[in-house]
Amino acid sequence: MRTTPPLARVLLFLVVPLAGAITLDDTDPASVRAAASTIAHGLMSYYTGNETGGTPGNLPSPYYWWEAGAMFGEMVEYWFYTADTTYNSEVSQAMVSQMGTDGDYMPSNQTKDEGNDDQVFWAFASMSAAEYNFPAPPSGSPSWLAAAQAVFNQQASRWDPTTCGGGLRWQIYSFNSGYDYKNAISNLGFFQLSSRLARYTGNDTYADWASTTWEWFKGSVLYDADTYAIYDGTSDTTNCTSADHTQWTYNYGAAIGGLAYIYNHTGNATYLSDLEGILNTTLTTFFPASMGNKIMAEVTCQPTGNCDTDELSFKAYLSRWLAVTAQLVPALNSTIVPYLQASAIGAAGQCDGGTDGVTCGQEWNSTTWDGTYGVGQQMSALAVIQSLMINLADLKTPYTSSTGGTSKSDPTAGSTTKTDSSGYTLTTVTTADRAGAGILTAVILVGIISGSWWLISSD
Ligand SMILES: *[C@@H]1O[C@H](CO)[C@@H](O)[C@H](O)[C@H]1NC(C)=O
Ligand SMILES: *[C@@H]1O[C@H](CO)[C@@H](O)[C@H](O)[C@H]1NC(C)=O
Ligand SMILES: *[C@@H]1O[C@H](CO)[C@@H](O)[C@H](O)[C@H]1NC(C)=O
Ligand SMILES: *[C@@H]1O[C@H](CO)[C@@H](O)[C@H](O)[C@H]1NC(C)=O
Ligand SMILES: *[C@@H]1O[C@H](CO)[C@@H](O)[C@H](O)[C@H]1NC(C)=O
Ligand SMILES: *[C@@H]1O[C@H](CO)[C@@H](O)[C@H](O)[C@H]1NC(C)=O
Ligand SMILES: *[C@@H]1O[C@H](CO)[C@@H](O)[C@H](O)[C@H]1NC(C)=O
Ligand SMILES: *[C@@H]1O[C@H](CO)[C@@H](O)[C@H](O)[C@H]1NC(C)=O
Ligand SMILES: *[C@@H]1O[C@H](CO)[C@@H](O)[C@H](O)[C@H]1NC(C)=O
Repeated sequence: MRTTPPLARVLLFLVVPLAGAITLDDTDPASVRAAASTIAHGLMSYYTGNETGGTPGNLPSPYYWWEAGAMFGEMVEYWFYTADTTYNSEVSQAMVSQMGTDGDYMPSNQTKDEGNDDQVFWAFASMSAAEYNFPAPPSGSPSWLAAAQAVFNQQASRWDPTTCGGGLRWQIYSFNSGYDYKNAISNLGFFQLSSRLARYTGNDTYADWASTTWEWFKGSVLYDADTYAIYDGTSDTTNCTSADHTQWTYNYGAAIGGLAYIYNHTGNATYLSDLEGILNTTLTTFFPASMGNKIMAEVTCQPTGNCDTDELSFKAYLSRWLAVTAQLVPALNSTIVPYLQASAIGAAGQCDGGTDGVTCGQEWNSTTWDGTYGVGQQMSALAVIQSLMINLADLKTPYTSSTGGTSKSDPTAGSTTKTDSSGYTLTTVTTADRAGAGILTAVILVGIISGSWWLISSD
């Protein structure tokens, strides 16, 4: 910047005010759609998978495979919330490409180091596609619903009561470090997927699994029933007797979303009171008064500027799941929406960076761009801004098979067992693959030692 010649500086000055900054009127649907469109364009500009030589469904380094799944899920919702079809064909192609030959989001490029949490973020994308009647995938591909069912079937088979009284492990295969870790996002992810399948299909098997998972979670050290705090993870090497107490928006969001779907489906008051308590704790923890009025913050890393690539995207998931909760549990709408509105205004104010003047940073409590940029920042800003459409456009709640959802059910999908806890069956993993996974292990161990865990999946 310091070497910018005067002429260029003048040009920059001329260009920025024309293109720069996103204005948002949170009461005007046209304004919200325009802001969302600008941010979605910035988000999708990171994706080169549909270009010649690109791999459909992957984001370039440093973005892990799971985050691409999260992004396409949000883009499905972008279409439903704004009615903008611009990216539908790319999004559909990406999701189908990464289903893998068994339609279970375990494509061969990812399988050897894929975690349950990685897989479930793609299942969420597929589930959203079913719930919003996103255009069906090409014939020959499993339906959106079937792909989510495939992931459910595999994760249910990985439920492991041999330690900690149950729970899902973080990693799928025992040769990956983190196999001993039973973490919040893997278990709450499976809980939310079960809840959504229960509501969509009406099949009690899914509701029973939601109940089993939720009861196990509540009884575990991952949860404090008095304060409604949700902790990040625990190790089965000590039978899950202590937890890493780091707190993240996406863990709370996964619980809130799961409870909203299962409460909407069952009307069971236990889920509602747990939901209300966790929502209260979420609002006090992640919307601190010291960082603005009702503005979401990733409090564990944002104030120190230490959020990593994955963590920069977490606010997107809390935003998405708060929004759907406002729909599914109408009694909570008036509590939730003011927080989404204030955060959306904050996020728009932070989207005035970069050479295009509309790049989003992470500090939603400031209208001065914080100098950061990336998929996570774009995704988070887009999620919270587009969420305003639920009330502005009076959007329908996610469909079910009895309210117009057309995605075809296949309860036996994904039956090709891909599990380790009941016997290692991934015969195609070679010694070389394991060596590759071992390198990853060293990287993860650094994370354990520094007390910080994150989602991983590398290739
Ligand atoms: C990739 O998608 C973008 C945005 O929809 C589009 O402009 C471009 O033509 C696509 N590229 C290919 C090779 O399909
Ligand atoms: C798997 O990786 C290969 C080599 O990088 C690539 O050509 C292929 O498109 C990838 N497939 C998927 C589904 O990611
Ligand atoms: C491990 O924890 C589970 C659940 O709390 C408990 O039922 C089980 O008895 C414990 N096992 C051992 C060996 O302590
Ligand atoms: C409500 O849900 C809780 C948690 O899953 C379960 O323990 C309880 O049995 C359910 N109550 C009824 C009436 O189904
Ligand atoms: C489920 O959501 C719909 C749509 O908001 C709502 O009409 C219905 O009352 C909800 N059901 C429960 C049990 O809250
Ligand atoms: C959550 O907060 C609301 C509003 O402050 C309060 O009325 C409610 O009792 C709280 N619920 C729980 C379960 O703590
Ligand atoms: C925004 O949050 C930062 C911490 O990340 C804090 O230092 C600053 O005072 C906050 N600004 C406002 C206007 O609340
Ligand atoms: C939800 O709450 C917001 C903010 O209070 C309000 O504007 C909106 O009308 C409410 N939506 C419904 C469906 O009640
Ligand atoms: C309900 O789901 C279970 C588990 O996938 C499956 O075995 C059963 O066939 C399903 N029932 C119906 C009616 O689809």
